[in-house]
Amino acid sequence: MTELSQVNAPIYEALRRFRRMRVVPFDVPGHKRGRGNMELTEFLGEDCMNVDVNSMKPLDNLCHPVSVIKDAEMLAAQAFGAANAFFMVGGTTSAVQSMIMYACKEGDKIIMPRNVHRSAINALILTGAVPVYVNPDVNKQLGIALGMSVSQVEQAIRENPDAKAIMVNNPTYYGICSDLRRITELAHAHGMLVLVDEAHGTHFYFGENFPVTAMAAGADIASVSMHKSGGSLTQSSFLLMGEHVNADYMRQVINLTQTTSASYLLLSSLDISRKRLALSGKEIFAQTVEMAEYARSEINDIGGYYAYSRELINGDSIYDFDVSKLSVFTLPVGLAGIEVYDLLRDEYDIQIEFGDIGNILAYISVGDRKRDIERLISAMSEIKRRFGRTGADMLSHEYIAPVVSEAPRKAFYADKVSVPLGESAGKVCTEFVMCYPPGIPILAPGELITKEIIEYIRYAKEKGCQMTGTEDINIERLNVLA
Ligand SMILES: Cc1ncc(COP(=O)(O)O)c(C=O)c1O
Repeated sequence: MTELSQVNAPIYEALRRFRRMRVVPFDVPGHKRGRGNMELTEFLGEDCMNVDVNSMKPLDNLCHPVSVIKDAEMLAAQAFGAANAFFMVGGTTSAVQSMIMYACKEGDKIIMPRNVHRSAINALILTGAVPVYVNPDVNKQLGIALGMSVSQVEQAIRENPDAKAIMVNNPTYYGICSDLRRITELAHAHGMLVLVDEAHGTHFYFGENFPVTAMAAGADIASVSMHKSGGSLTQSSFLLMGEHVNADYMRQVINLTQTTSASYLLLSSLDISRKRLALSGKEIFAQTVEMAEYARSEINDIGGYYAYSRELINGDSIYDFDVSKLSVFTLPVGLAGIEVYDLLRDEYDIQIEFGDIGNILAYISVGDRKRDIERLISAMSEIKRRFGRTGADMLSHEYIAPVVSEAPRKAFYADKVSVPLGESAGKVCTEFVMCYPPGIPILAPGELITKEIIEYIRYAKEKGCQMTGTEDINIERLNVLA
């Protein structure tokens, strides 16, 4: 291991060596280097099919890494400033679930903001842990949930000194960061672990002048979507751990739900991307930020739209802001974010990351080009001219504080009945309702359904938000406690 450095990519190098060996496959996968499925091979390419192989001694095994995967994980840990890192092939969902499963058992409390991704609340159903939600502050103008303020966290700790962990988004989907260093100090002073969802924060580790990373802030575990801003293949992520986390126990926790057939396409993509960012991340993300800043200033010049940035910082619930995010408030041009999102795709062949009630997010990252940014700016300008309205009938709120009546696991597995959406007010929901993206629940299992929530769901549906989570695929009925 000592002779390896960030120029190495041990899994990738092992796969190249393996390809030269021309091993005859009498193992899975059954496509046998693509020969057994030529249409797929023509589509994906022989090079790709040739390395779609299963674990074997020369390539190590993700469930119990002892050679090239272990080396690659150690290099990743070094690159991210972590004590240990695990390669994850089940998306950041599996990383988030694993960190909660590590920290909490049935009945344990976990303090978390309510605007977490569904994977975190799913983990509460899996573990039986009980959420102590910190309702994030809301920016009333933009209608978005912010970070957790330190005083809210202090209060949650005071009222729940027996909580096992605190979870933090770093950053939120919109680019907003809490005071992670201070929250980590507070949590540790009370014997709680700090778990950080950094699905949208990979670049913090490699670029300059970004918000503090979980590992630098002294947090215990972080879930990092390398496949989002880091350039690896979809579904590949890292789980990072600080020095006080028992990595060997964490491996056992991960193996409770992880596949035993990890894809080497995903593993090598993580390995190569880590190498690339470790060697050139600074320059890559400087360019990313330059493009985002340029787009922000041009979009603000169009008028109406508000592409926000560091001016929102308030030293607490917006402790810092990720300037690589191009988040734009659209209501002043009379269009819901989701309408702009749909118009960009349907009229201008531009796919952005998401649109919600009042905002859109265009994801700017390693792969963007200046000319594409120009196209986005001019499409936004035309959308305002062609489709802009007065915003009289627009709903503005994005976050409704939940009333939690039952723990998520208890509600999810309880006896339930299905009722029409319009008749569900006052009942306790047993399933999720969310717009995807961003996948932040409007309702989670165990929460009280209110008239305001029903109005929000109807409005989001009408505006074309992609709704998910319910057993009823059309979101016309909700499952509630019997
Ligand atoms: C904040 C946050 N956490 C976790 C995830 C889950 O990531 P993945 O889609 O890689 O499973 C997402 C996905 O969008 C996310 O936005």
